[in-house]
Amino acid sequence: MNQGIDKTDLGRVAVLLGGRAAEREISLISGRAVLEALRRQGVDAHPFDPADGLTGLTADAFTRAFVVLHGRGGEDGVIQGYLDSVGLAYTGSGVAGSALAMDKYRSKLLWRGLGLATPDFIVARDAGGLSAAARLGFPLMVKPAHEGSSIGIRKVDDLAALESAWREAAALDDEVLIEQWIDGAEYTCALLGARALPLIRLETTNPFYDYAAKYQDEDTLYHCPSGLDEATEKAFQELARTAFAALGASGWGRIDLMVDGSGRPWLIEANTVPGMTDHSLVPMAARAAGIDFDELVLRIAASAGHGGAR
Ligand SMILES: Nc1ncnc2c1ncn2[C@@H]1O[C@H](COP(=O)(O)OP(=O)(O)O)[C@@H](O)[C@H]1O
Ligand SMILES: [Mg+2]
Repeated sequence: MNQGIDKTDLGRVAVLLGGRAAEREISLISGRAVLEALRRQGVDAHPFDPADGLTGLTADAFTRAFVVLHGRGGEDGVIQGYLDSVGLAYTGSGVAGSALAMDKYRSKLLWRGLGLATPDFIVARDAGGLSAAARLGFPLMVKPAHEGSSIGIRKVDDLAALESAWREAAALDDEVLIEQWIDGAEYTCALLGARALPLIRLETTNPFYDYAAKYQDEDTLYHCPSGLDEATEKAFQELARTAFAALGASGWGRIDLMVDGSGRPWLIEANTVPGMTDHSLVPMAARAAGIDFDELVLRIAASAGHGGAR
């Protein structure tokens, strides 16, 4: 099943997990799942938590790093720059792609510049920008520009709610993204190398796919196959590949999109280190493509490269 990947060729693998971001706990769960999958397949894999310092994370000690850090410091180009500096090959996107994908505001600027549809938006660095944001029309989504796991995200229906949601998001981030609400269905497209995996349609009874819907609720539904007709599925996969590549992202990841009532897709955000527990979305999409969790982990590990060359 592993398409001829020689496990001994992977050498000594540092699985980077934990870190200092708000998503530390999720990263620990993803990281352990990756570590176990590698070990189960006989790979010489070791956990490495950058929160304890980076001493020992060198090209002498390890052959490659499997980055399973979510959020700031781990998914945003910072650790990738460190790994480039010490010459250690790593999984996923390089510095620039990681930094751009982590930045929801600049991802959208870039997509809009390329004519790829993304909900209309403004960035509000102070409360003075809120009346301009209100002119986009309610409901609006308010997001810290550099978070994940729906942390600090609110849907607001009026100016008073916008002001309090902005204050909450501004406490987490210097830049707060305010964007138009898309009424419709939500999809995510996992990317593995050059390939887009089958889309997943997400269904929650909450107003949107918030932290509880992601990690706590029992009634969130994941439809894979997505139920889209073949041509639409292909078109959205192609859009996801284009949007991911436009950010300079590579290796593996995920693009989130919403589809409005008229069937038009809107790009929401990119993830360069999505969740990797065995019930996370990328593993779910991989399974639908006939790639089980262990094989997925092995393939990502085998694709590790050097940031500068990407
Ligand atoms: N413009 C939007 N319209 C409707 N729902 C949205 C919009 N933006 C985000 N959402 C909802 O909020 C969730 C989290 O937003 P997202 O930008 O993906 O942030 P995160 O990085 O926290 O996953 C999405 O999965 C989706 O359910
Ligand atoms: Mg998301």
